[in-house]
Amino acid sequence: MSDKGAWWQRGVIYQIYPRSFQDSNHDGIGDLHGIIQRLDYLSWLGVDALWLSPIFPSPQADFGYDVANYTDIHHEYGTLADFDLLLQEAHQRNIKILLDLVPNHTSTEHAWFKESRSSKDNPKRDWYIWKDPKPDGSLPNNWLAYFGGAAWTLDAHTGQYYMHNFDPGQPELNWRNSAVQEAIFGEIRFWLERGVDGFRVDVIDRLLKHPQFLDNPINPDWREGDSTAWKYLRVNSEQQPEVHRVLRDLRTVFDQYPNRVIVGEMDYGLSPEKLASYYGGATEDEDEGDEIHLPFHFGMMLTMWDAGAIRARVDAYEVALPPYGQPNYVLGNHDSPRLISRLGVDGARLAAMLLLTLRGTPTLYNGDEIGMSNTTIPDDQILDPQGRNKVGFNRDECRTPMQWDSSPNAGFSGAGITTWLPLAPDYAQNNVATQQNQPESLLMLYNRLLHYRRDTPALNWGRYYPIDGLPEDCYAFLREYEGQKRLIVLNFAGGNRELHFADYNRGKIIIATHAQREGEAVDLDRITLGAYEGVIIEFA
Ligand code: NOJ
Repeated sequence: MSDKGAWWQRGVIYQIYPRSFQDSNHDGIGDLHGIIQRLDYLSWLGVDALWLSPIFPSPQADFGYDVANYTDIHHEYGTLADFDLLLQEAHQRNIKILLDLVPNHTSTEHAWFKESRSSKDNPKRDWYIWKDPKPDGSLPNNWLAYFGGAAWTLDAHTGQYYMHNFDPGQPELNWRNSAVQEAIFGEIRFWLERGVDGFRVDVIDRLLKHPQFLDNPINPDWREGDSTAWKYLRVNSEQQPEVHRVLRDLRTVFDQYPNRVIVGEMDYGLSPEKLASYYGGATEDEDEGDEIHLPFHFGMMLTMWDAGAIRARVDAYEVALPPYGQPNYVLGNHDSPRLISRLGVDGARLAAMLLLTLRGTPTLYNGDEIGMSNTTIPDDQILDPQGRNKVGFNRDECRTPMQWDSSPNAGFSGAGITTWLPLAPDYAQNNVATQQNQPESLLMLYNRLLHYRRDTPALNWGRYYPIDGLPEDCYAFLREYEGQKRLIVLNFAGGNRELHFADYNRGKIIIATHAQREGEAVDLDRITLGAYEGVIIEFA
């Protein structure tokens, strides 16, 4: 086990969608005790930190991303005492806990918003973004919500509009008001004092809006038939450069507590250079930035699954990062189609190897380790606001309950209970228990990769050297740390490929996407990989 650097620079983050992870009290909804019951699994799997999607009190208009109180636990998930127990049990197993901070907006049910909407002269009026209608009675500007319709909702009582980039139940806080910043920083301290190891922070790059509330310009790529939510470029309703000042302030809050981390949810479309700017400037000792530790890197989710395109993305990202910027990679989450539904079974194996061998901190989404797939939900049963309004992917499809075993309700909940979202139809065949008994399963591949990564400094710390001169549908790179070298070779083609590594002689396959090759001695001057096969090689 390598001992260099901070835990979040060596570790692997595992995202739990608490509503769908484990139901311990048989109401069809996952909860904190359920997560505690599964900690031994997570420890066995080999992950280092759990990021829990929001667990705070919420009317669930956006399934927790509409927070009604930042310092308590949603009643369906448990209590603060349950949370303390979870934290303690996780820490005993050397697993960190990250919570999900949603500072950009609250729920309309939050006490702050209730005060703010009560009258135009309430002291908290300016905590949210309120605007008069235009003189002709129309909306304050052309901003649109991600979940469809205008980003403005009229409050009949005071005659003004409040702004929301997402659901009308998620009014935006006014981050240009320093009292808002102080209030949110207070809520963060509450959890850091309690011992949480950090936060994933929702839409962290989008906290500020243009001070003059200018219209957004037309999106030149938008075509009739595309989702209306994307008709305009969101250059004025978000992405304001002054946000860096807020992020530096936020960082000082975290820096008062040792070993805490900020993972920032960023716009998916950011260029590697823009993404790199969110690490901030170098600190005095030049080994870290002064803003976000890990600005989420989603680039690979949008890149074509093709060896050349993936390598180009990784290389561009590596080049753009400041020397003190810890890279990170995400391939799936609760907002995106399931990995296996995008890449197929073979692609998912290759993706697992890629994610866990590149330089930097990987984040896995619960269920991807067993290849859970998108589940179609009948229109009249869709719960996700984005899916219901038909403005994008129905995220219910990637949020179905975790498939633990082949018993009724997959071990997620008890037999005969109606779960909050239906189980995927394949759960009797595809589940944790079944895959744990199959050495060739995707789960066992993840398990081997995670433990090998943890024990191999070259994968934790090593430099990254891409290798040229290979067949165009193959991607290989070397990782090296203090003389320890590992070669990773990935074949993205649907057929065999022969590769010649002129600089290396003999090696041994240590981990393979297709387990039967593990342990095989290979001649690197001429090695053949099967269709969609990936291998990690140690040198003889
Ligand atoms: C990003 C979160 O990941 C998503 O689930 C949520 O709907 C929006 N932010 C709004 O909070």
